[in-house]
Amino acid sequence: MTANVKTPFTAVKVTDRVHWVGAIDWGVRDFHGYATRRGTTYNAYLIVADKVTLVDTVKAPFVGELLARVASVVDPARIDYVISNHAEMDHSGGLPEVLAAVRPERVFASTLGVEALSEHFSLPSEVTAVKEGESLSLGGATLHFVEARMLHWPDSMMTYLAEDGLLMSNDAFGMHLASSQRFADELEEAVLEDEAAKYYANILLPLSPLVAKLLAKVGNLNLAIDVVAPSHGPIWRKDTGRVVDWYAGWAAGKAKRKAVIAYDTMWQSTAAMARAMGDGLAAAGVETKVMPLRESHRSDVATELLQAGALLVGSPTLNNGVFPTVADALSYLKGLKPRNLVGAAFGSYGWSGEAVGQIEESLQAMKVDLVAQGLKVKYVPGREDLAACSALGHRVAERLRT
Ligand code: FEO
Repeated sequence: MTANVKTPFTAVKVTDRVHWVGAIDWGVRDFHGYATRRGTTYNAYLIVADKVTLVDTVKAPFVGELLARVASVVDPARIDYVISNHAEMDHSGGLPEVLAAVRPERVFASTLGVEALSEHFSLPSEVTAVKEGESLSLGGATLHFVEARMLHWPDSMMTYLAEDGLLMSNDAFGMHLASSQRFADELEEAVLEDEAAKYYANILLPLSPLVAKLLAKVGNLNLAIDVVAPSHGPIWRKDTGRVVDWYAGWAAGKAKRKAVIAYDTMWQSTAAMARAMGDGLAAAGVETKVMPLRESHRSDVATELLQAGALLVGSPTLNNGVFPTVADALSYLKGLKPRNLVGAAFGSYGWSGEAVGQIEESLQAMKVDLVAQGLKVKYVPGREDLAACSALGHRVAERLRT
């Protein structure tokens, strides 16, 4: 066994036979472009049945923590089976070291997971494919496998422990939130909803039609689900329907009367336009978030956009193009495929003024329905220009009524 097993980490009991044996990453602040200001956890679960089974591992640097938590329950050498629900390295990075240390009897993954793992690692154990609907007896407990293809990778899979009504949902229903509490019912509701929304907006939003199908599929399986145990953040052991309902709403793309204005500015001209538009929208009763992009992370803009019906983007023209922060946000948002948005472009310029047209092209590529031609102001907006910005806010608000 590895020397790391001597570290003093302990497991947390989830049910009589299931223990959380993951790791808490208090310091991570960037998750491939997503700002994780509250850190995250990499959750792994140990099932103590006749066949001792580990479901998922952790990011590679945290393997010692995982093995120590396992050792607080059983000798890691007693692990018989390892299930890999997902090959992304925040869950499989520790797999090679765990397999080398534990030498389990068998390792399982989805069909596409077997392929993905072989394309990531040279593992010391053969990996057996389990198919949709297949089950695996652990002796006194039974695992059922539910494929979640493209949610969010081709190989993604969920594992359901029937006897405990426990769904190990992998990335689904998770959030990036490091905490000493392991269960959602120990944490503040507002924090949970914020972080779950941020996770959905930044990871699952482009896959919303598949999320809706997966929710329907799981519903049709009639699984009794008492505990939802995701791979990031807290475990849901009470009122598990709450997070499922949030997902159903986000997947349906229901928008509030809400607008997001994202912009950057050189000499406060585009900022003044943004504020005037925000004022027009607010005066028309629209919840409006004005987000200066040098101070607002792209992933926070995506989160605000999750339930918004309008997106307005502004930039001054810099070197015949849009400001770098605006280009960054547009590129990121385009990949997330937000739906059913109306919007507009705006910005100040000195002589050439290409930025507004370029923003319009980006918004059109995102299928944003432009309510008016982009608003351009030369150098510094005057009173009439700002009145036109406010009027544009009103026009957007009108469109949000329908
Ligand atoms: Fe898709 Fe948490 O990894």
